[in-house]
Amino acid sequence: MSDDALIVLENVNKWFGPLHVLDDVNLSVARGEVVVVIGPSGSGKSTLCRAINRLEPINSGTITFDGRPLPAEGRALARLRSEVGMVFQSFNLFAHKTILQNVMIGPVKVRREKSVEVHDRAMALLERVGIANQADKYPAQLSGGQQQRVAIARALAMQPKALLFDEPTSALDPEMVGEVLDVMTSLARDGMTMVVVTHEMGFARHAANRVVFMADGQLVEEAPPAEFFASPKSDRAKDFLSKILTH
Ligand SMILES: Nc1ncnc2c1ncn2[C@@H]1O[C@H](COP(=O)(O)OP(=O)(O)O)[C@@H](O)[C@H]1O
Ligand SMILES: [Mg+2]
Repeated sequence: MSDDALIVLENVNKWFGPLHVLDDVNLSVARGEVVVVIGPSGSGKSTLCRAINRLEPINSGTITFDGRPLPAEGRALARLRSEVGMVFQSFNLFAHKTILQNVMIGPVKVRREKSVEVHDRAMALLERVGIANQADKYPAQLSGGQQQRVAIARALAMQPKALLFDEPTSALDPEMVGEVLDVMTSLARDGMTMVVVTHEMGFARHAANRVVFMADGQLVEEAPPAEFFASPKSDRAKDFLSKILTH
């Protein structure tokens, strides 16, 4: 195991009743690494993400983040959640708060940081995701792509050590997918540690260091993207790729 590992899952198992949704999963994500997780619907990708910031407890095995086992509760858990940002398919912005307030609320309410300091950081982040000029609008006034970029800025405002993305572009109209992937690609280039569940194979090819293929709760194979797409080893990965790459 590399000393530089930020996220480490060892022999992780998770059941929902009789359903074995994470089946002896071993995965190590290095600092600055971008791991794209792909696989059929129901294979456990979302559960994997949720387990990493402990939105889902696991039944056995261990997960460590930055050298420490995931805390179960209390302030340590709150700190973990602020260190592991999460971006979901549904943007989950507060509808009655402005874009700027949405980005500021975590640092101000959870971290008790001073508003003046958070304000400048939030504006810089909105600049970075290309929507500083929308800061005083409300989420409903923005397009889906813009709202998802706000959600990314909001996650970054907590200054996380890693970001998890669970199908961040799946709810978007096609013309808005690119603007969100561009922001994610820029974060990847800047060295953010990222675990990204996505069906965007272009992003996987160009931005990922590694592609992980899941099926039936198992991590079936993993490889650098060029190798994975050129010569998937398992029949399940071959079958999955033939289905998604032919239409
Ligand atoms: N809270 C839950 N209770 C029971 N079953 C669940 C729950 N969440 C997910 N599942 C089931 O666990 C399996 C894996 O789900 P999920 O991690 O969402 O897969 P994916 O994100 O790859 O589509 C699916 O069969 C799903 O129906
Ligand atoms: Mg999912």
